[in-house]
Amino acid sequence: MKILFFGDIVGKPGREAIKIVLPKWRKEYRPDFVVANGENIAHGRGITEKSLKEILDAGIDFVTSGDHIWDNKKVISLLENEEIPLIRPANYPSICPGKGWKVVQIRTKKILVINLIGRVFMHYNYDDPFRCADEILSEVEDIDSVIVDWHAEATSEKICLGWYLDGRVSAVLGTHTHIPTADERILPRGTAYISDVGMVGVKDSSLGMDKEIALKVFKTQIPYRLEVAQGPVEINAVLVETLSKNKAKSIKRLKEVLEL
Ligand SMILES: [Fe+2]
Ligand SMILES: [Fe+2]
Repeated sequence: MKILFFGDIVGKPGREAIKIVLPKWRKEYRPDFVVANGENIAHGRGITEKSLKEILDAGIDFVTSGDHIWDNKKVISLLENEEIPLIRPANYPSICPGKGWKVVQIRTKKILVINLIGRVFMHYNYDDPFRCADEILSEVEDIDSVIVDWHAEATSEKICLGWYLDGRVSAVLGTHTHIPTADERILPRGTAYISDVGMVGVKDSSLGMDKEIALKVFKTQIPYRLEVAQGPVEINAVLVETLSKNKAKSIKRLKEVLEL
């Protein structure tokens, strides 16, 4: 199966870019399933019903998330609705609303999408993502492809989950840093891997947010409120061709810059 995966979509510029690029890429690459990390779709912070609808209407099939998932608390009702194709990291405490993985049926094929969050240089002590992956994989059967959105900061922790899941899932795709890495590959046992897919957000920015405000925060140590940057948008994604629930044929980085 061909799976198109977009990294963190940041704010309105990111959503607008998806509306333009996705119809074009659907024609060009013919993906069976399109996933995006949506943790920053609502003005860079969290997910609202309106912003989620906008990217689903634009052609995204399924939305994963990360540490920003709770920025807008109204997301809880969206997560609790089984019909909405949205998940939060699976290794949040089990009492949290929503699910950390879902099985999606695409024609005759079943895809398991898992969302995990890292613990190195992150704000909270999440549950163990390695053990959490084991538990999910032991629970779900009869699957054709398994995609993991691995939302983490440290490349060391990221590649180690890649090694841990190599030959056990179709792809481990990193998100959260918003900066694409050039290490996409098929690991020795067949799993597609990249440390970070990169964002869909304004190019001349700090991770999609206004660079002048971000710079002021670093210089003064005062936590000024960051605003979404404006300008041309960099679209980062990967196209993964899976062979089975634990193997992929290829992983290709895609990048385009759009003047909106
Ligand atoms: Fe993000
Ligand atoms: Fe994040």
